[in-house]
Amino acid sequence: MKNKYFILIMLLIVGIVLGFTSTSSDTHTNDTTTPRNHDTTTQKDEPFDKMMQVLTHKRCVNCHPAGNRPRQGEDSHYHNFGVQRGEKNHGIAALKCEACHHEENNEYSGVPGAPEWSLAPLAMQWEGLSRVEIAKSMLDPKINGGRNLEQIVKHLTEHALVLWAWEPGIDSEGNPREVPPVPKDEYIAAVKAWAASGAVIPKE
Ligand code: HEC
Ligand code: HEC
Repeated sequence: MKNKYFILIMLLIVGIVLGFTSTSSDTHTNDTTTPRNHDTTTQKDEPFDKMMQVLTHKRCVNCHPAGNRPRQGEDSHYHNFGVQRGEKNHGIAALKCEACHHEENNEYSGVPGAPEWSLAPLAMQWEGLSRVEIAKSMLDPKINGGRNLEQIVKHLTEHALVLWAWEPGIDSEGNPREVPPVPKDEYIAAVKAWAASGAVIPKE
């Protein structure tokens, strides 16, 4: 009787010890390998990742749509009132962008505003493109309005339509528009760091 209990307890102890050493050696391996590998990838692509989290956000893509109609709101629905691109990207006839969109957000009507409010030219459409495709088109002078890297960085970090995304105001129902997931300062630093390290576009 006594012996049986003794053996059971010994088995339990051995089990616990074995279990403990095997989990602790697992954690040990994880500690030394996984985070290190993980760190190198994040460090290398981090500026690009941060930048693209902004560029793929609807505050940008709503105005860089595929086709000839701006998009609105968090669900990127077609712009109300049948607003169209028009020949010069500023709308048509009575529905010119500047008829409604002024230099600043209108907090009463919910019409967003910033200087030069108009639709990004069709060639600069980002809707439906992957991060890599957006980055490639952004760096292509045939598409990007003949800009070199320095000018693209300037546009990305200083242009009023870009910076508007962090002060997008409220919509016509009084709800605040969502801002991009990366704070403005961090985004600007990421764009500059990415450009300074050679503007490398990683594989998808
Ligand atoms: C008749 C007035 C009117 C005209 C003309 C007009 N807009 Fe708008 N636009 C609005 C209103 C109102 C909203 C806000 C709707 C809401 O948030 O509920 C809006 C919202 C938008 C948004 C949404 C921003 C976002 O991220 O949610 C974009 C982009 C936009 N307009 C682009 C344009 C462009 C480009 C033109 C010209 C081609 C244009 N609009 C012409 C009234 C107008
Ligand atoms: C209200 C509409 C609007 C919004 C919002 C907007 N853009 Fe644009 N974007 C434009 C227009 C118009 C042009 C063309 C201007 C030019 O070439 O001078 C443009 C051009 C660009 C270009 C240069 C051309 C290219 O595609 O390489 C970049 C880069 C760009 N936008 C980035 C952004 C980013 C990033 C955001 C969001 C944080 C944004 N834009 C939000 C209208 C908009």
